[in-house]
Amino acid sequence: MPANSDDDRPSRSPVSRRQVLAAGGTGLLAATASSTRAAARTRKVRAAAGDGTPEQIHLTWGENPATSVVVSWASLDPATRPRVRIGQRVIPAEARPYTDGINGEAVWTYHARVGGLRPGATYAYMVTADNDSNAADPFAATFRTAPSGPAAFRFTSFGDLATPNTAWVLSYGQSAYAVDAVESFQPLFHLLNGDLCYADLNPTVQPEVWRDFGNNNQTSAANRPWMPCLGNHEVEFDNGAQGFTSYLTRYTLPDNHVAGFGGNWYSFRIGSVLFVSLDADDVVYQDAGAFVAGPTALTPAASTGNPAIEPGTSFYVRGYSGGAQTAWLERTLAAGRDDPSVDWIIVQMHQCACSSSATGNGSDLGIRQQWLPLFDRYQVDLVLNGHDHDYERSFPVRGADADVGHEAATGTVVNTLRPRPVTTTDSGVFDTSHGTVHLILGCGGTDANLDDYGVDTADRERQAKVFTQANRPVLTSTPDVYTRAAADAVEDAIWSAKRDTLTGYGIAVFDVNPDPEDFGGHTSITVTQYHAVGADPVNPATSAKGAPTPDYTEFETFTLVRPRS
Ligand SMILES: [Fe+2]
Repeated sequence: MPANSDDDRPSRSPVSRRQVLAAGGTGLLAATASSTRAAARTRKVRAAAGDGTPEQIHLTWGENPATSVVVSWASLDPATRPRVRIGQRVIPAEARPYTDGINGEAVWTYHARVGGLRPGATYAYMVTADNDSNAADPFAATFRTAPSGPAAFRFTSFGDLATPNTAWVLSYGQSAYAVDAVESFQPLFHLLNGDLCYADLNPTVQPEVWRDFGNNNQTSAANRPWMPCLGNHEVEFDNGAQGFTSYLTRYTLPDNHVAGFGGNWYSFRIGSVLFVSLDADDVVYQDAGAFVAGPTALTPAASTGNPAIEPGTSFYVRGYSGGAQTAWLERTLAAGRDDPSVDWIIVQMHQCACSSSATGNGSDLGIRQQWLPLFDRYQVDLVLNGHDHDYERSFPVRGADADVGHEAATGTVVNTLRPRPVTTTDSGVFDTSHGTVHLILGCGGTDANLDDYGVDTADRERQAKVFTQANRPVLTSTPDVYTRAAADAVEDAIWSAKRDTLTGYGIAVFDVNPDPEDFGGHTSITVTQYHAVGADPVNPATSAKGAPTPDYTEFETFTLVRPRS
């Protein structure tokens, strides 16, 4: 991972999709015409004042995905009477502005809750305001509500998306193709597993990075909900108690009914599936949030009144909810498993309990200690992660083996609570009532492929790095320059079933089939990972230099089954 940057990077205009695609991986922005309405809108020159034109338009599910969605957007200046029109209804939006704590820029976001919809229905909607420069022809799109009751549906997932504007640290052109890939599969919704745009690595231009992210995503997220979770790169200095203000202001998410933590974690139901979205920043040992590596301090704009952030400072939020999230998780899982209309429980979170990436972060004992016992008790079927920019699938795991890890530095035995596979036969069909499958899907679009996986040089077994303690910043041999160490422990990754060494980029497609004909008495989810071979900036196995590509081809498919509830 690149060190944090406190470069004063210039603000850039949003990049059109065709510009990105034409520019490929070169980082150059070709001056070609925009191909989409969205890009055309966002490229226009900012008015002197009062530009309320909607941009960064995206949907999330409301409290009941069968009957409600939220339409959210931003504008460059305050919008006058921001609103959504759907059929004959006009729904006023709630304004939710904030001021970035580093560069002092005002950000204007809007949220319209659209309820009273019919299940499984397609709706057209428009977004506008009195000072919308496109008021004569406002932004328009369609979306589909979730079905009610058990029904087949498709969703997709990846994390670690970034933006296509290569002016920003960790942004890469694959980010645009990844959004197009979501659209190509026409899912009911998409799960975005944290590390959305890496604004924290571009700290003096955070609103600009979020803007490019929002305008890139709009191509899909205006047509179907994109449901996010918090990652380590959503932690931003001077933006709220945990640094989540940019994220929480831009998204309206289902209510978790936990005072003070609205939006940090949530759940929603679609058909026979309970989706649970968590913030693993609350439990992981790894320190990977906002960080000033030095040698210079990060100095916020004078207008913010915020003091300089000295080299060696990191924003470490482990334990921030004081156990409230884990208590909520247990209540939510218990209620879900107790509900006869729930078959599947799928968890989304950014950091990983089962990752054997060699050049990435690896696994974290904090998740294994606090949440895996709950996943076992309530038979969570599937856990979707990001964080490591690759694709890895575990065997179903249940329970843990003690004292099988080793300190990386000394070889001393350490208890990594290694998840125990219930089978090591890669049959392609797994009954997840016996164990939880973990998928690493940090394969969105960010400019750092991590598809290089650990191997124990002594026994040639797969090996995983594991954080068992906090890697707080330490001084390097260079004055005023700090670093954060890699994971402190290793273990043989006997739980690892499949790793994609061809590319760090892909998208997972999930087809939920509540009533399959070929798994008698069971319900099933078919999972297919599509990958973008050749997209690696540098492939670690072959050293081949790649470039962004629109071609996503099948990597593997497997089926999860479980008895009906
Ligand atoms: Fe991450």
